[in-house]
Amino acid sequence: MSKSNTETGGPRPLFTTRLGVIATTVGSAVGLGNIWRFPYEAGVHGGGAFMMLYIAFIIILGIPLITAEYALGRATHRGIFGVFRALKAHRAWNALGYMGVLSAMLILSFYSVVAGWTLEYFFGAVGGAYTDVSREGLHTVFGEFTSGWRPLMWTVLFLVVNYLIISRGVARGIERISNVLMPLLFALIIIFCVNSLMLPDAAAGLTFLFKPDFSSLTAPVVIGAMGQAFFSLSLGLGCMLTYASYFNERTDIVKSATTTAALDTLIAVLAGVLIFPAVFSFGYSPEAGPKLVFEVLPAIFNEMTGGSVWASLFFFTLFIASLTSTISMCEIVVVFLCEEKKMKRRSACAVTIAVALVLGLLCAMSFGYFTGVELPLIGHPDFFSWFDYGTSNILLPLGGMLTSVFAGRVLDRKVFNRQITGSERPSALSRLIGFSLRYICPALIAVIFIVNL
Ligand code: PHE
Repeated sequence: MSKSNTETGGPRPLFTTRLGVIATTVGSAVGLGNIWRFPYEAGVHGGGAFMMLYIAFIIILGIPLITAEYALGRATHRGIFGVFRALKAHRAWNALGYMGVLSAMLILSFYSVVAGWTLEYFFGAVGGAYTDVSREGLHTVFGEFTSGWRPLMWTVLFLVVNYLIISRGVARGIERISNVLMPLLFALIIIFCVNSLMLPDAAAGLTFLFKPDFSSLTAPVVIGAMGQAFFSLSLGLGCMLTYASYFNERTDIVKSATTTAALDTLIAVLAGVLIFPAVFSFGYSPEAGPKLVFEVLPAIFNEMTGGSVWASLFFFTLFIASLTSTISMCEIVVVFLCEEKKMKRRSACAVTIAVALVLGLLCAMSFGYFTGVELPLIGHPDFFSWFDYGTSNILLPLGGMLTSVFAGRVLDRKVFNRQITGSERPSALSRLIGFSLRYICPALIAVIFIVNL
């Protein structure tokens, strides 16, 4: 099979090192989903029980599904759309390709708004804007900021930065910067965890996070935990598949899938350990939603000497973590436009970013300009929450379900085995993953959908 390059039409570039594989996939997986979305979702959904379920979904659905996306991507060296053509699948499977591209656009839009918030907080922290601000003060600061015009400016700026990077190709630059900044993020999180654990009343936060209260397990909690697992692993929209199209034949797919899932989960749990003790000791409500992290973290930094330095470092690294994730979202759409619509990479990037700009501004306005607005039929135009909920809890799990059916039932077993074991014969591991893709993943996702309805 010829491996086409989306940039030049020549041979498709491949990641050369194992580090490149891990840095890019973990770079995609680790982002706002771990540090911003996981704590607020866990907060809204009762803490411990949510976390246990989330981890269970990562193991039961996440690992087999990343493996499936990796296998499909590397077997064909194509994006989420081209993969079906390369495998001569029925045209109906194109729907999965369209769903992936749509999900990527919608996530990119609301994600860029939050990434913009990290920029505001980074520059604010550099200028010492949050030191000595009281808890109520931080609440007011966030509310005033998000209802004004500055989030619009940051969203535009963030998307322009994305354009500048992706239009040059997923060059070594972003890989190299993730190699440095991901470990830095990890180290910073551990330092902040230690600080957070020393706060008075830290135990209440840990109890909330680690002690499951299964009486709080309702259908929305279950679907929320499943959605969070998909979102956090960048799964169900062909993101991992697209990156795997750059893997070479030596990459051990199952090992890489497990490493990505493990590191991603570790960062999410650490983010919980960092945030919940502070939530309880500063008297916030864990159910604050999307603003949780932005109000609580500056309060932790204020407790530390040199708080504004730590805060600046943290928000900067969070910004980088967002960037490595949004780049992977853009890549899905760009590869689609290049492979299917025969666009040049630069034009494909411009189209992707232009659409994201329009949708992103609508999301940014959900917090301010649209407050109090009621439209016929749809009511309050809360694009931010619609895109967030609709992708994580509906489109991504649905995409995951279809991917598992495709990889488990439609894809030639020999092709699948060769990706997993290197030979056409099955191994115990490829049988286990195949079984999970054929039966467990589709059934579990379907049951959760049905119960939720
Ligand atoms: N996994 C990323 C995060 O946790 C978000 C993401 C979703 C990235 C979908 C790519 C595709 O922040």
